[in-house]
Amino acid sequence: MARAASEIIAFNPMQLGKLTLQNPVCLAAASWQLDGADYERLGAIFTRTVTMEPKPGLYEEGIWQVADQTLLNATNMRTESAEILVQEYLPKLRRYGVPVFVSITAPGIPGFRKIARFLAREASDLIAGVEVYIAQPDTGNGEELSAKFVREATQAVRNELGPEAAVIVKLPPWPEHIRGLALGAQQGGATALAATNLLKALHLPDDVTATPVAGGLSGEALRPVALRCVWELAHDENITLPLIGTGGVFTANHVTDYLRCGASAVQVASGEWLEPGLSARLAAECTHLQSETISSEWKS
Ligand SMILES: Cc1cc2nc3c(=O)[nH]c(=O)nc-3n(C[C@H](O)[C@H](O)[C@H](O)COP(=O)(O)O)c2cc1C
Repeated sequence: MARAASEIIAFNPMQLGKLTLQNPVCLAAASWQLDGADYERLGAIFTRTVTMEPKPGLYEEGIWQVADQTLLNATNMRTESAEILVQEYLPKLRRYGVPVFVSITAPGIPGFRKIARFLAREASDLIAGVEVYIAQPDTGNGEELSAKFVREATQAVRNELGPEAAVIVKLPPWPEHIRGLALGAQQGGATALAATNLLKALHLPDDVTATPVAGGLSGEALRPVALRCVWELAHDENITLPLIGTGGVFTANHVTDYLRCGASAVQVASGEWLEPGLSARLAAECTHLQSETISSEWKS
């Protein structure tokens, strides 16, 4: 029988170490070349993922809209150069006056150490921290991801960046496994967790002779899975890190949904891609959430 439970939820501004986000709505790792109107309203900006050895490719050619407000990213995780980010883009992003987090990835622990060391040396005064992209859904190696690897990668980044920098670990959309991976991140010294990254998916183009397109799913179709991941993390008493919800945020209600599930902030990627300027508009609509207390009815 359905049971109704009332609970009072207080939304507190997200705390990342000493940093307090001014707004729960953030720009997700996707692109920093998008039009940045009103980005100063955002809680934070997360850059597209960079690596020490960039993987070139044309971004726009790999993005398919596969359903309403749902994208398939088949760019095979094209990455930008960390050096170009520091030289060309970080100074531009800094002008919005909101914290900037650089999304980083690497094929192994030495690679994570190398890129974190580079950023600590070249950009520590330009960034609030990093987001560690722990899995590359397009590589086929996702199933090898272990809590041990997450812990060691996080630790390597933390050691290079020092105790003050925020290290956010972004996890894949695997509700069954996300708690273990999150514990690895926590043990490795993460400041917060972001859930989730893209979900492995396949798109069959209308042309029956075309090759099926493998990639990562985002947007509307991802939101229920990402909500479940945030829920799993928020309901694990061993996980104490603050959470960022990522997946299918298009409206202020979606922001509230994530906060009700236990996140303290959200990231917007597909929404911004499909409708440039959406994240800043949502941020304007969500300023009141920073100090709001709502009464919520859960039914189970
Ligand atoms: C066009 C596009 C590019 C993306 N690039 C990155 C990236 O460089 N690094 C990363 O960690 N995630 C990347 N993502 C994933 C998003 O940051 C986000 O985790 C995912 O798309 C779910 O959020 P959404 O439903 O709001 O798109 C990208 C997503 C899209 C749609």
